[in-house]
Amino acid sequence: MTAITISEARDHLGETITLQGWLYNKRSSGKILFLQLRDGTGVLQAVLSEPDNPSLFALASRLPRETSLVARGDLREDRRAPSGCEMQLAEIAVIQEPTSDFPIELKEQTPSYLLDHRHLWIRTGRQVPILHVRDAAFRAFRAFFHERGFVATEAPILTGASVEGTTTLFELDYFGDKAYLSQSGQLYLEATAMALGRVYWIGPAFRAEKSKTRKHVTEFWIAEAEMAFYDHAMNLRLQEDLVRYLVETVVAERREDLVALERDPEALLRAVREPFARIDYGDAIDLLKGKGHELTFGDDFGAPEEEALGAHFGRPVFIERFPVTMKPFYMKRDPKDPTRVLAADLIAPDGYGEIIGGSQRVDTEGELIAQLDENKLPRAAYEWYIDLRRFGAVPHSGFGMGLERVITWICGVPHIREVIPFPRQIHRLYP
Ligand code: 4AD
Ligand code: MG
Repeated sequence: MTAITISEARDHLGETITLQGWLYNKRSSGKILFLQLRDGTGVLQAVLSEPDNPSLFALASRLPRETSLVARGDLREDRRAPSGCEMQLAEIAVIQEPTSDFPIELKEQTPSYLLDHRHLWIRTGRQVPILHVRDAAFRAFRAFFHERGFVATEAPILTGASVEGTTTLFELDYFGDKAYLSQSGQLYLEATAMALGRVYWIGPAFRAEKSKTRKHVTEFWIAEAEMAFYDHAMNLRLQEDLVRYLVETVVAERREDLVALERDPEALLRAVREPFARIDYGDAIDLLKGKGHELTFGDDFGAPEEEALGAHFGRPVFIERFPVTMKPFYMKRDPKDPTRVLAADLIAPDGYGEIIGGSQRVDTEGELIAQLDENKLPRAAYEWYIDLRRFGAVPHSGFGMGLERVITWICGVPHIREVIPFPRQIHRLYP
């Protein structure tokens, strides 16, 4: 008999079915045993009673959590069960019986213990719905751009120069030369945009973040787009459309996972339905000062400031036109005020912080060389990038979205480390 998945169970009510999975948990009530079976697509309750099948009852009573098995039985409707049905267990074939107690208990354990057992932790509790949401978010990002005629492309991970400043570079020896792990594919996407028009990718990005926060990992997945013949205003409209599409698609596909995570899907949809808020960097500083925050023009926003802005607007907000001194070398200055750049950060509501950074790019050779010099970056390593301003330069713009940041916000979980299968942070390289 071919096996079905738990996600398909509802279509097989009244049938005898076979499931392949693991024993997630069990409890007994006198002569009745309730087994929670999981297979990655969901959890299904299987029941059996001792008088009906004493030998199966004895076997099932003894099996430890996370035994891998094949189970067969009749499926019947049960409105109280999360899966909408329940299995009357007839047979179990054990594949492998664990050699000791499963290290992850289904109650509170300390974060550091759970992280040390991340390879097993991901089988339990909210970790499975989170990883399903992650899958849906990755797919939705790609679908959004594919539907709009953008071309998928790739950037290298081994690079010879920095994009986002030199303080967070991971350096390595490259046959006697210095190389760095990529902080962002942007500079290479600018080159492919001049070849292909409009491009996007999802790739890994590395930042040697020496602090431990709820929003930073040292390895994350960046989703980036770069567009030729595109200005700052068009760039913001595209980002807004993307974030709305992502949230709507993930809610439509994974509503039950969000409910399992105690995230209200309607509240998420409400947050993205209206046009996103926009505020000039200077006005944001004034607004925050008015709320009692101590900061001056030129300061970056910390977590409390981002939280205050999120609470003030109650929906995603673009902070626009930062001072030149705050931002990287590649951003185009605002022709109306050359002390500012045509850039914006998108801040998620509810304290989830910056989810997108983007800008219009410098498009003349002279300005780019001047900005490289101002940032004390070695011109030689960027010659190829300067070439893009020598051969048919056009106004162009792009952005990068931190996928883990977006998924943390969508899932409403407190810490970024739960939304990536194997988080990398300072002092954490295991498992
Ligand atoms: O704002 P960032 O540094 O912008 C860039 O890298 C641009 N080159 C992107 C572009 O224009 N193509 O990073 C982009 C996003 C941030 O808004 C944030 O969401 C995420 O990447 N991010 C991190 N996410 C997790 N952990 C970290 N350490 C992150 N650093 C940035
Ligand atoms: Mg940024």
